[in-house]
Order: sequence, then C-alpha cells, then structure tokens
Amino acid sequence: MTSRPSDIIVVGAGVVGCAVAYELARRGVSVEIIDDRPVGMGATQASAGVLAPYIEAPADGPLLNLTARSLDLFDDFVARVSAESGTLVPYRRTGTLDVAVDDAGLRALRAQAEALARRGVPALMLDAAAARTEEPHLGDGIIGGLLIDAHGFVGASDLTRALVTAARRHGAQLVEQSRVRRITHLHDELIVDTDRGSLTADAAVLAAGSWCGEIEIGGLSPRVPVRPIRGQLLSIAWTGTPLRRVTWSHRCYVVPWDDGTVLVGATVEDAGFDERTTVAGVRDLLDAACEILPHAWTAGFRGARVGLRPSTSDHLPIIGASSIVPNLMYATGHYRNGVLLAPLTAQLVADALLDGHVDPMLAAVSPSRFGEL
Ligand code: GLY
Repeated sequence: MTSRPSDIIVVGAGVVGCAVAYELARRGVSVEIIDDRPVGMGATQASAGVLAPYIEAPADGPLLNLTARSLDLFDDFVARVSAESGTLVPYRRTGTLDVAVDDAGLRALRAQAEALARRGVPALMLDAAAARTEEPHLGDGIIGGLLIDAHGFVGASDLTRALVTAARRHGAQLVEQSRVRRITHLHDELIVDTDRGSLTADAAVLAAGSWCGEIEIGGLSPRVPVRPIRGQLLSIAWTGTPLRRVTWSHRCYVVPWDDGTVLVGATVEDAGFDERTTVAGVRDLLDAACEILPHAWTAGFRGARVGLRPSTSDHLPIIGASSIVPNLMYATGHYRNGVLLAPLTAQLVADALLDGHVDPMLAAVSPSRFGEL
C-alpha cells in the first residue's frame, strides 16, 4: 500500500463484507459494496448466528485464538451497530449446553472442559440430572453436558442488514445485481470488472465467500482456494416452555429465539454450488434435534434454508493482502465462523489497509500459505 486509500470497493454483501464495509466507512473511507445478490443472501442467509468458539474451535490454535478474540468484541460491536443503524440487533449471551449421548461423547466433553480450564474459560461439566435441571426438555438419552456461559447467538441477517444501514449512514453505497468477474490493477488503480461494467478504486476487499473462487485475480484464472460446503438450517415453531439456551450435540445445534422460533442447524455437505434443501438434510436435522430434545416432535415446521460456507483446505480463513494485485485484500474462507469472525475480520482488514498495521494474528491466515494469490 503506497498511501492511505480513500475509496475502497468491498466485493460481497454477506456478513463479512458488510462488517468490513461498515468499519472502513466509519473510519472515513468512501466505500462501495458490490454483490449480485441482495444483502446477506450467500452463506449468511442460513446462519443460526451461534457464537461458540469453544465448541467450533476446541483445539488450541489460530482458529480458537481468532474466534475467542472476536467473541470478546461482540458486546460493543452489536451495541454500536444497533445504535448507528437505528435497529435493535437480536443478541443473547445465554451460553451453550453441549450434551453427550454416549461414553465417547462424555469423554470428549470432559477433555474439552479440562482444556478450557487450562485456558481460564469458565465451563461446567454436568451429569445427566444436572444437565436436565439446566434444560428440562432434554431427552432420556442424555448422559451429561458441558455448560459454557460465554457463548451466545446473534441474528445473523438482522446484523448484516444493520451493518449495511450503518455503513450507508457513514456514506457507503450498495451496488446490487452486479456480479464481479475480474479484479486487476492498472497504474495506481484497482479495476473491478462486473457483468454490468467496470468500477475503479484505490483498493478492494474480496469478501465474496464461496464465490471468490470464481473471480479472476490479476488477469490469472480464478484461483482463490475456497470451496462451497452446504449447510441446511431448519426453522421450527416451538410450543410450550421455551428452551433456555443453545443446545448442542455431535449431530446438531438448536437455537431458541424469544418469539418461539427455534433454528436447527446444520448439515455439512460437499455438494458444489447446489443450493437446494433436501429431504435427507431436513430428516437428519429433525432426527438429530428430536434425539436430544424430544419435545421438538410437537413443533410446527416452518421451513429450511441453505447457505454455502466458504471452506479452505485447512479450515482457516484467508485474510490479508494479495501478492498479485497491489491494494487488494482477501477476507474470505471463514467456513463455519463468518458471523463470529466478522467484527475481528473487519478490524484487522481496516487496520492493515488504512494504517499499515498487520496484526500478528494475521500470519496464520495469510493468503501466502496458498502460494501466489
Ligand atoms: N457455525 C455453524 C455452522 O456453520 O453450521
């Protein structure tokens, strides 16, 4: 980066792109967000918004460090985005109850509790009776659980829309129905070619999730190494006493909203760009939810949705500067953690692009681990 960019194109209007756009706009940059889909209609549309680093990234390593750090930003992030957008983003930090149905599962939870204790993260191991006291809806097959108070959930679609509203209030513009095909560089300018014409800017951030892999970079054939992993998510209408918090098993997670909506996620399927919901996906998720919470059999069925998570071969995101196109940064490959990592990604990208500050945590997620990118 030669000088501080004053106009930046963000490719992708999912939660990561919108968080980056918001952060750049609030720091005084002129921002355009481009997507061919409406806001939040990629992977974000099928996110249950669970914020659970100590389940999603249990082993010590870069993913745990990144997700735990991002979780710590959430209280302030949601409060600020709610205030600056004028919308109340639904957000709860009611914890998770991760349950076991067999001895192997129980051993895994115990090992996780010990790892969390070493890290200083409060987590409570429960026997079957104590787990049922915490969540009276648990089925008879539950033999224990792990309660992690720090976890929570956020309305992913509401958050994404609020980010766009707040970004617009800081002057950002949303360019819809434009599919980006190519990003190149000429002299001091970045050129972003779309199927509706070309745009130029000082810099760009590629945050198009699974679709990043279809965009030409620097005149070379598409090369961002992300692949779509389908996630199906169910919405059911709970009846009677509400669930107390996110309940998690090795087969699903169940997220209770205040209005009685309960989300059940998610399948993990290598199905290319196929965005259909399937009978098998719906059946598997219903079975999984009813195994741990049998009362779910009485719920109304509202529907199913699909998102394509952008996955990388090491399941770490790709965040950092391109080595091919100057002033292009990647913010993609967030796989199962786009919502959770959105505030931290936005902060790290803005620090790098605007202040030249490359956070040490970016070393592990650098695009350079995939060669010339
Ligand atoms: N973060 C949960 C999922 O991707 O299913």
